[in-house]
Amino acid sequence: MDIKVTLNPNPAQKPDPSTLGFGKIFTDHMFMWSWNSEKGWYNPRIVPFQRLSIHPASTVLHYGSEIFEGLKAYRRADGKVQLFRPIENIRRMNNSAERLCLPQMPEEDFMQALKEFVKLEEDWTPSAPGTSLYLRPFMFGNDESLGVHAVHNAEFIIIASPVGSYYKEGINPVKIMIEDQDVRAVRGGTGYAKCGGNYAASNRAGERAEQQGYSQVLWLDGVERKYIEEVGAMNVMFKISGTVVTPMLSGSILPGVTRKSIIDVLKKEGYKVEERLLSVDELAQAMADGTLEEAWGCGTAAVVSPIGELCYKEHKYIVNNGEIGALTQHLYDTLTGIQWGKVEDTFGWTVEI
Ligand code: PLP
Ligand code: COI
Repeated sequence: MDIKVTLNPNPAQKPDPSTLGFGKIFTDHMFMWSWNSEKGWYNPRIVPFQRLSIHPASTVLHYGSEIFEGLKAYRRADGKVQLFRPIENIRRMNNSAERLCLPQMPEEDFMQALKEFVKLEEDWTPSAPGTSLYLRPFMFGNDESLGVHAVHNAEFIIIASPVGSYYKEGINPVKIMIEDQDVRAVRGGTGYAKCGGNYAASNRAGERAEQQGYSQVLWLDGVERKYIEEVGAMNVMFKISGTVVTPMLSGSILPGVTRKSIIDVLKKEGYKVEERLLSVDELAQAMADGTLEEAWGCGTAAVVSPIGELCYKEHKYIVNNGEIGALTQHLYDTLTGIQWGKVEDTFGWTVEI
């Protein structure tokens, strides 16, 4: 694939790393690629970062025809920049595209686009501890008509944002409320796809939790509101009596790259890991009898986010005295160690730019 590059004539000043939040500052360029059902993918290009101009009837604005990904470029101690398991994001995006009737992208072209774009924006990858360059590939249906059907036109874009830590608390334990009204996803729905609509539908519960002093919600399944699914926009894991238990991928849970990587690390280190149904009653019992030893969310943005308190039907349970657990810390150190090139990558997960 031949990517046409138009350089930004007015590159911006790089931000002070101490001011980085999450996704507020963007780099000088963006990758764009257009698709039409007759032409296929065409005009791959890197252009100066700019606003988009779309027709007011564009499909995405009315029918939510949108999918996205999230991965990071990390600055290693030797100055080189690397990606973490980008092929997993590429494949998940194609799975999301299939679910939303958006076009498939050839894996090698997507990978090339990521690498060339990150290479061009390499200087935007910060080096302060915990910082990285967050990459946000996204695709949207862009027909200029109000008919409801699979689209004939789509745009694929990659933007990049230098980021610090996702939660303002950093690696400190967060308070989570178990949500027993709204659900994030249902069987047969789009839970396993990373589509914008899932996030729009989850905001009401998230807002309610925040108003009550919680960082996020713990989602229950959409059919019985009984089984634990995810926490906010992260997968969730519990250490119960020495075993790590995480909800199995049922179709309504996003198959996280961090989740998959943690399972691999745990298994390699000899931990017992169970991917299975975990009911909220079982969790409440484990919280009540003290067998719940640790709990954490996991995802690209926060990596590992310890849970210090869980609230269910107005009962508050403190996990591990509200402190980060030893295994949670170990997983954070191991994953971030591999991502930032401080720990040897024996899994072959990292891709140097
Ligand atoms: N679950 C949801 C709903 C998410 O949005 C994310 C974030 O991408 C994850 C889980 C974690 O996935 P990953 O580890 O691939 O970032
Ligand atoms: C994650 O990376 O864990 C996320 O959930 C990303 C979020 C901003 C959608």
